[in-house]
Amino acid sequence: MAVPLYALIDNNLPRMAEFREAFTEVAGSGQFILGPMVADFERQLADYCGVGHAIGVGSGTDALVISLMALGVGPGDEVITSPLSYVHTAGSILRLGATPVFCDINPRTYNLAINSLEGCVTERTKAVVPVHLYGQMCKMGPIMEIAGRHGFKVLEDGDQAIGARYDGRLAGTIGDLGIFSFFPTKNLAAMGDAGAVVTDDDALAEKVRKLRVHGLEPGYTVHDLGGNFRLDAIQARVLSIKLPDLEEQNQRRRELADRYARHLDDLPLSTPMEADDRLHTYNHYTVRVRSGGRDALAGHLDACEIGNRVYYPRPLHLLPCFEHLGYAPGSLPVAEQASQEVLSLPIYPEMTRAQQDEVVEAVRDYFRAE
Ligand SMILES: Cc1ncc(COP(=O)(O)O)c(C=O)c1O
Repeated sequence: MAVPLYALIDNNLPRMAEFREAFTEVAGSGQFILGPMVADFERQLADYCGVGHAIGVGSGTDALVISLMALGVGPGDEVITSPLSYVHTAGSILRLGATPVFCDINPRTYNLAINSLEGCVTERTKAVVPVHLYGQMCKMGPIMEIAGRHGFKVLEDGDQAIGARYDGRLAGTIGDLGIFSFFPTKNLAAMGDAGAVVTDDDALAEKVRKLRVHGLEPGYTVHDLGGNFRLDAIQARVLSIKLPDLEEQNQRRRELADRYARHLDDLPLSTPMEADDRLHTYNHYTVRVRSGGRDALAGHLDACEIGNRVYYPRPLHLLPCFEHLGYAPGSLPVAEQASQEVLSLPIYPEMTRAQQDEVVEAVRDYFRAE
């Protein structure tokens, strides 16, 4: 039996009647961008997060760019972030003319290594973007402490971690700002591109809202230039319908992760490590295969039609677009090694026991034959 990496349609099937109703509602409303449906979703998301403000935007990337703009990041500034992430993190920093500073990662959680963070701070550090990778939050306590002591801002990239917790606190709600992507593979998934910024800071929220529509102010004037970062009403309605299911679906992912761990534990691979003070929401179930076996395992899974993917095959500091920053192979050894050894297996709330057994069997089969 083939098992896909994602089951994007299955995730929508139980709510199909509500989606039909919502599409009819939007089609007949004439308000296709922003408007009351977006405002409703923003209220709902802010309540879920327990923060004062949620601002819907066009994508997770938009959320990051607009948040950096609201923090005033620009030429001459440095922003510390992770080398093991989607390209948008460092890319957004560079797009604004600032310099990404890559901090190596913890080899077990794949998140920013706290003992490397302080060494990345300079007098030009304007912010840090901790990326909550695979669904597990960074160690936010020490990050907030270091940022507070040096006087720079914290922008949490919660794109893969909506609903995750650190010391009981939700992803996105600890830093000055938090961002989410609702890309269709995320735990809260739109039917297209969508994202959001959350914050408790009234002034930052106001800036983000203004920048979302080019920075326009009453009387058609602009002081701080923004862009088109708006969210569509149709995506807001989809997200409003799906948000109430998020906690239960994250719990289902956790059960699947637990079962994977029990069935894979005796094999020569590392299953994900959930830190004691965190609640992991498993946007990805990422195992680690040492000693060059990762690509062979991936090839075997491909042959068995088991979905799998490497997040991410090249650390950001070694991409040609960041070459001018002066990093070289060996600069960030933990992230570089992780990129050679990580492999994500299928995990989604709708996954059946039979599907999971199939994945487990295929992985076990590989090590049996090895
Ligand atoms: C960690 C992380 N940040 C940001 C993004 C980008 O979000 P979007 O695709 O919504 O722009 C992604 C993936 O899509 C991601 O995995």
